[in-house]
Amino acid sequence: MRGVFIKLVTGVEGEIRVPGDKSISHRAALLGGMAHGETHVSNFLLGQDCLSTLRCLKQLGVSSERQGTEVWIRGEGMEAWTEPTDVLDAGNSGTTSRLMLGVLAGSPFAVTLTGDESLRSRPMRRVTDPLKQMGAQIVGRNNGNLAPLTMMGGQLQGRAFQTTVASAQVKSAIILAGLRASGETRVEEPALSRDHTERMLRGFGVEVLSEKTVVRVHGGGRLTGQDVSVPGDISSAAFFLVLGSLVGRGKIILPNVGVNPTRTGILDVLRAMGADIELIDVSEICGEPRATLCVRPAQLKGIEIGGDMIPRLIDEIPILAVAASLAEGETVIRDAGELRVKETDRIRTVAEGLNALGAKVEELPDGLRIQGQQSLRGGQANSLGDHRLAMAWAIAGMLSKEGVSVEDMAAADVSYPDFLAVIKKVAR
Ligand code: S3P
Repeated sequence: MRGVFIKLVTGVEGEIRVPGDKSISHRAALLGGMAHGETHVSNFLLGQDCLSTLRCLKQLGVSSERQGTEVWIRGEGMEAWTEPTDVLDAGNSGTTSRLMLGVLAGSPFAVTLTGDESLRSRPMRRVTDPLKQMGAQIVGRNNGNLAPLTMMGGQLQGRAFQTTVASAQVKSAIILAGLRASGETRVEEPALSRDHTERMLRGFGVEVLSEKTVVRVHGGGRLTGQDVSVPGDISSAAFFLVLGSLVGRGKIILPNVGVNPTRTGILDVLRAMGADIELIDVSEICGEPRATLCVRPAQLKGIEIGGDMIPRLIDEIPILAVAASLAEGETVIRDAGELRVKETDRIRTVAEGLNALGAKVEELPDGLRIQGQQSLRGGQANSLGDHRLAMAWAIAGMLSKEGVSVEDMAAADVSYPDFLAVIKKVAR
């Protein structure tokens, strides 16, 4: 099998500025496009997913300019968006597709939205059903559940929803539609998911009421262009938190990482496992807290996680599973059935991928049971086009006796374009 070979490293040292947060970059572009006046975004993530959001906006008549990681979006309000002359392609991005459907539900024109093979297999009824109930017309394969989806937006009516999964994409799609609906729109979720949309909307001048797991907005709010400084992505930092914990020696410093409490489950869990992670220089800019993280090696022990913790670290479970396979004792992850509908079925792909490297992982219906070991053998792994698997396997390679050959490492470009160069730089 061909692939990128990642070999065992005995130490690490250095400072890594992880790229901008994916969720926040998407929202900055989208809200910038909905606002009146210019929005300037700094530290925008140049991953394929966020570029998909910019490309879709362009097709809707929203122009932007980019210089490195700085983006300027010329917003003229949602009323100025125009019917696209071709299909919108969200690529691999669940966030682009679901949030975009939310905004477009209030636009009086037809749009067809599609994506790559993975996105076309991911469930969309969770957003199309509520948007239909608010008044949008949507048709698609599998009774409106699978892209390509065609939507005819228009007059929306605010409603109250109780979602069955804690999903920020669903919550955000409903809130964004609610901004264009008459009356109040209310979303209650079973556990709190990431709240970047709520925070950023307030920054753009819209009133959003949040109380525990309930969010309410009124239609008719006007967004005004802003300066948005995107913090580093904790989901990208997580790979180095695990590497820095399990490598033999050295220290990794990660400046400017977003530490919004709806995203810091990985810090809480790694620390509960025994990790030595320090948070310094905590500050809040543009409504989003950030800090410098410093990680040093430590013996990790197994843990049981589930419940409300899961939405706070859902994207970090692949790399957490690598950590658990090198911890002392058993780790059990439950209530994480959502992993089955991510870029891949991450319960199956993580279990099969890690077992092929010599780990002992059992697939559970809604999670994983992992027996920690002193070492991993290594071998061959495949990202299956899933960015987080590509990076998890590369880190596993740096911690495995025989290293790991990663097939389709390029998948990492979705959220971390220079990942390979960075891990080479930090290895000692
Ligand atoms: C995201 C929400 C989460 C997460 C995804 C990004 C977002 O998905 O897994 O990577 O930006 O809103 P769900 O809303 O499907 O849980």
